[in-house]
Amino acid sequence: MKKLLAIILTLLLVLGLAACGGSSEEPAEESTPETTAEAETETPTDDAEEEGTEATEPETSEEGKTLVVYFSATGTTKGVAEKIAAITGADIYEIEAAQEYTSDDLNYNDPNSRTSMEQDDSDFRTEIGSDPVSLDGYTTVYIGYPIWWGEEPRIMDTFVESYNFDGITMIPFCTSGSSGIGRSSEHLKTNAGTGNWLDGQRFSGSTTEDELREWIEGLQ
Ligand SMILES: Cc1cc2nc3c(=O)[nH]c(=O)nc-3n(C[C@H](O)[C@H](O)[C@H](O)COP(=O)(O)O)c2cc1C
Repeated sequence: MKKLLAIILTLLLVLGLAACGGSSEEPAEESTPETTAEAETETPTDDAEEEGTEATEPETSEEGKTLVVYFSATGTTKGVAEKIAAITGADIYEIEAAQEYTSDDLNYNDPNSRTSMEQDDSDFRTEIGSDPVSLDGYTTVYIGYPIWWGEEPRIMDTFVESYNFDGITMIPFCTSGSSGIGRSSEHLKTNAGTGNWLDGQRFSGSTTEDELREWIEGLQ
């Protein structure tokens, strides 16, 4: 009887162990979804980075031409303008008065001289005699003039009111005995109404090419 019970118990134990062994291998199969999750999170990040790089690159590679525009009654501003054009490789355009200024016209000790009268009236517009210039293709314009009675000669107002400077960086410069550029560059910007105007700079007639180069490099 004891032997029979022992055989039955042994059989039950063997069957029980066989049943447990089968279920212990199943959890290994549940790990597969992790790889799917990884693939889904990586793709959008890579795409966003690539799109950002492509969008910014082309804008920095375009550069337009540079023009130096100037008015000069006695040659000082002309000299500075020519140096700026040589340094920058720019084209150059001279604003000439329809009626050339004589030395009597330029006499600032005479309250009735032509320049004294013109500068007394901020609405006066001196007529330009030189052929108009085309601004097509220019993205930078240096614009130079002498200081007369602390301001820009009225012919400069005639010039800036005659053109559209949209999309152009405007860089004023002047020459003078001692006065700074003062209100003149602000007047030009206001009267022009278009263009991206930078702060202007005053130079003396003896300004060297190295000094001008340093100023130009500082603008970038
Ligand atoms: C009518 C007139 C007014 C001037 N007013 C001033 C002035 O207010 N401040 C100054 O420093 N120089 C003044 N100057 C000197 C000129 O600005 C200076 O000589 C300038 O460099 C001349 O440039 P340009 O040779 O290109 O005409 C005046 C000159 C003239 C003819």
